[in-house]
Amino acid sequence: MRIDKMLANLGYGSRKEVKDLLKSGGVKVNDTVVKNGKEQVNPDTDTVTLHGEVIEYKEYIYLMMNKPQGVISATEDHYEETVVDLLELEDAVFSPFPVGRLDKDTEGLLLLTNDGQLAHQLLSPKKHVPKTYFAVIDREVTEDDVLAFHEGVTLDDGYVTKPGKLKILKSGIRSDIELTITEGKFHQVKRMFEAVGKKVVYLQRISMGPLKLDENLELGEYRELTEEEITMLRETKPK
Ligand code: URA
Repeated sequence: MRIDKMLANLGYGSRKEVKDLLKSGGVKVNDTVVKNGKEQVNPDTDTVTLHGEVIEYKEYIYLMMNKPQGVISATEDHYEETVVDLLELEDAVFSPFPVGRLDKDTEGLLLLTNDGQLAHQLLSPKKHVPKTYFAVIDREVTEDDVLAFHEGVTLDDGYVTKPGKLKILKSGIRSDIELTITEGKFHQVKRMFEAVGKKVVYLQRISMGPLKLDENLELGEYRELTEEEITMLRETKPK
């Protein structure tokens, strides 16, 4: 592959910018400065560096983020900080986007990738990919709620949800719960609790299909998925 194509594919700028970058002498292939964009490189065997930093060539990037509150699940926004703003430049150059949305005040597992096909597969309503949330509810959650969620509840717009699996972890004047749903309607978890007269006061996504939130990730931190996680995601079958 041509070196200018490789750099452009990786998001290092337009053709003109990549040309200037090469001209500046900052790019080396196997320790030799390369200024000609037509130079052929083999991304698997050649070591390409930019200002001394090794450039890893890959087409796709898969990131697991522990999304903090206060940032929106979008790639760009004029007013709000986005999850993509939290990425290091070396990851942002791949132009990843969030797979689905978490509300601004929701924390937890968010997958970011530039693999449109995988994203589509995970978001497809036909696939029914289960998503599990931990939530704190403003009052007592009861076995009646477990039953109601199991049967499907009617949201404020009249939509009847598919069955949700509600597990009460701690019940009291405030309750801790886990809820697994297979749909992704707007504000779904919050609206399901509103349907039974309760309010979500804290919401965190802990899993999506086979992917579990890595407990070592602090809020706002992220890491690349392992090969095993990527394979598991690709093999996610309809329920
Ligand atoms: N359900 C919600 O209400 N909010 C989220 O962020 C995710 C699911």
